[in-house]
Amino acid sequence: ATLLLLNGPNLNLLGRREPEIYGDTTLTDIVKQLTEQAQSLGHELSHLQSNHEGVIIDRIHQAMTDEIDFILINPGAFTHTSIAIRDALAGVNIPFIELHLSNVHAREEFRQHSYLSDLASGVIAGFGVNSYSLALTAADQLLK
Ligand code: DQA
Repeated sequence: ATLLLLNGPNLNLLGRREPEIYGDTTLTDIVKQLTEQAQSLGHELSHLQSNHEGVIIDRIHQAMTDEIDFILINPGAFTHTSIAIRDALAGVNIPFIELHLSNVHAREEFRQHSYLSDLASGVIAGFGVNSYSLALTAADQLLK
């Protein structure tokens, strides 16, 4: 199947950004590892990171044209703010998993609401870099 990995704002800083919360692995390393994992499962993975809400929304729309089967998304702070990303995901009607490196439920109150979770196939949070591979494993199961 064809999968799309989306990473939202500030995730380009992974490895340098608050390493006590987000770990010291870079996004480049995560994408490399996930691309390999996808290939070994017989899938194709494309990736976009953007700090811009509209760019993420455009990529979600393009996923419909590209016939993407499944989306893995770490929306970063847009999780807690973006009705527009919610509407985009609902609009294209492509199943998705919401994922977070940190356990958002153990953090500030404002991180405990997500505009996406109720539309998601599932949510994975709190496993650091492993949240990505766990999400891919779950997507693989759902695609079977
Ligand atoms: C995050 C959690 C969000 O609350 C935060 O704004 C991020 C990263 C995570 O992966 O833990 O940017 O999505």
